[in-house]
Amino acid sequence: MKKVPVITIDGPSGSGKGTLGRALAKELGWHFLDSGALYRLVALAALERGIPLDDEPALARLARELDVRFDVDSDAVWLDGRPVGDRLRTEEVGNAASKVAALPGVREALLDRQRAFRRPPGLVADGRDMGTVVFPDADLKFFVTASVEERARRRVEQLRQKGIEADFEAIAREIAERDRRDRERPVAPLRPAEDAILIDTTGRSIGESLAAMRPHLAQLPAST
Ligand code: C5P
Repeated sequence: MKKVPVITIDGPSGSGKGTLGRALAKELGWHFLDSGALYRLVALAALERGIPLDDEPALARLARELDVRFDVDSDAVWLDGRPVGDRLRTEEVGNAASKVAALPGVREALLDRQRAFRRPPGLVADGRDMGTVVFPDADLKFFVTASVEERARRRVEQLRQKGIEADFEAIAREIAERDRRDRERPVAPLRPAEDAILIDTTGRSIGESLAAMRPHLAQLPAST
């Protein structure tokens, strides 16, 4: 049976990989997996249910049993039948997600769920370990980066647009700390796959970054 093509886009938070991945998926008419949202959902459910963020067996069970639904078009997410809203994207939940994501039991529990997104005609998968662990046989792998300062600036701007004033230095520190945790964890650390194409989005608009990625799509199998 012909395998369903996959493009993986890994990189640290704020690098632009989510926006780029969604745009590529739309251009190609493919499915999109925001794997970070799965880790965020586990973290959010744990915070709501009072499960300690280091209780690996309970968190792994939660990851396996979560009732999750995504709507790609509206970017909406439901947990246990209820829309989760903006809390999923907060720094609080992002930081908690990076803690639960360091637990091997949680990562293992989410593997099949992530692979189930691989459906015809193709999948664009965004995360930290898409090209290294979840889809090592992907047809095309990108690793998207940007400087910590640039990523902190983008985050502050995003929060400002939501009417939230944020301190640049504090956000930059949080980003650097989350990067460190994601890079130094023993399981599935954040690193480029050996065959990944590096895209640095520092000082580039989304359009410019997409333009840097597009020529590589020529590597995809001819039928896609
Ligand atoms: O990408 P996002 O910021 O939503 O991810 C939240 C956290 O989930 C990351 O900091 C990372 O620790 C974790 N994550 C992961 N593996 C993925 C996607 C996200 O460990 N594939």
